[in-house]
Amino acid sequence: MDRCRNGVNRIIYGLSVLAPALVSGHASAALPQSALEPAGPVARMQLDLFNITLYISLFIFVVVGSALAYAVIRFRRKPGDGIPPQTHGNARLEIIWTAVPIVLLLFMAVPTVRMSFELAAAPAGDNVQVRVIGYQWWWAVEYPEHGFTTANEMRIPVGRPVEITLESADVIHSFWVPRLAGKVDVIPNRANTMWFQADEPGVYYGQCAEYCGTSHANMRFRVIALEPEEYDAWIASRTSSDVAVQAAATGDLAARGHDLFMNGACAACHRIDGTPAQGTVGPDLTDFGSRLTLAAGMYDNTPDNLAAWIKDPKAVKPGALMPAIPMSDADIDALVAFLQALK
Ligand code: CUA
Repeated sequence: MDRCRNGVNRIIYGLSVLAPALVSGHASAALPQSALEPAGPVARMQLDLFNITLYISLFIFVVVGSALAYAVIRFRRKPGDGIPPQTHGNARLEIIWTAVPIVLLLFMAVPTVRMSFELAAAPAGDNVQVRVIGYQWWWAVEYPEHGFTTANEMRIPVGRPVEITLESADVIHSFWVPRLAGKVDVIPNRANTMWFQADEPGVYYGQCAEYCGTSHANMRFRVIALEPEEYDAWIASRTSSDVAVQAAATGDLAARGHDLFMNGACAACHRIDGTPAQGTVGPDLTDFGSRLTLAAGMYDNTPDNLAAWIKDPKAVKPGALMPAIPMSDADIDALVAFLQALK
């Protein structure tokens, strides 16, 4: 009975590992968040390790499954069979089925331990430093070397290691960009570190991977990998501090939005570089107009979506902590014009 249960367990284990691999492998191009489509060295090493484990498990599944099937068919009880000869213990078999798993586990353990050490620190060099802070339900992304902060979008240069420090402002989150690296927990009162590197320019989707409350599934983000010169240009544009003045100068509507923002409730929670708005409760909005999405990756950053968000955040993102501030549609339009001009 024990042997039988052991075999079934191993079949289930083999299938559980294999099925997602087959499904995702089949439609990988349509899955921008698949760890089976690595886009950088860290994710690639981790996939290699996954594959070693997968193939060893597959080998165990085939051997044990075949032996089980053979035994079930070959030694079926036939009509008229009596009780078979009773045996107890078989030293040779027991030694074999102890030794073989030890060897197989060593095949998995050696590369796992080696890779844990290899991936613990980024290769030394001109690495990009980023500090990520998880909030319910969005991400602050700080560039300490350059002294600015953005939210839910991390721009990085291709071909350069990015060293990330992960902290939480409230509960436990988990930072995961499947195509670039495995997940790392984001824990209050603790700074975890990780690194990754993107080979090609592109947008890599990320997702909070630790249940953290109502909008956990809506706690998304993007890693945007740029060519080195585009990245340098972005850093340069981002460190100029008069964005709010420029935004307000784009038209009367934006100018009115600027005043509403600075004199209303917005400035108490949000920050815009070079202005009296220095709130730290919500996302830094200094470069809001250049972001691809709003509400932590939920919606495209369009005027209509932004207006709906300001009107009633909870209606478009369950549990959102930003309150709905009563104001006229005209005022919302002015705020939208100002925020979208923040580039
Ligand atoms: Cu943050 Cu789940």
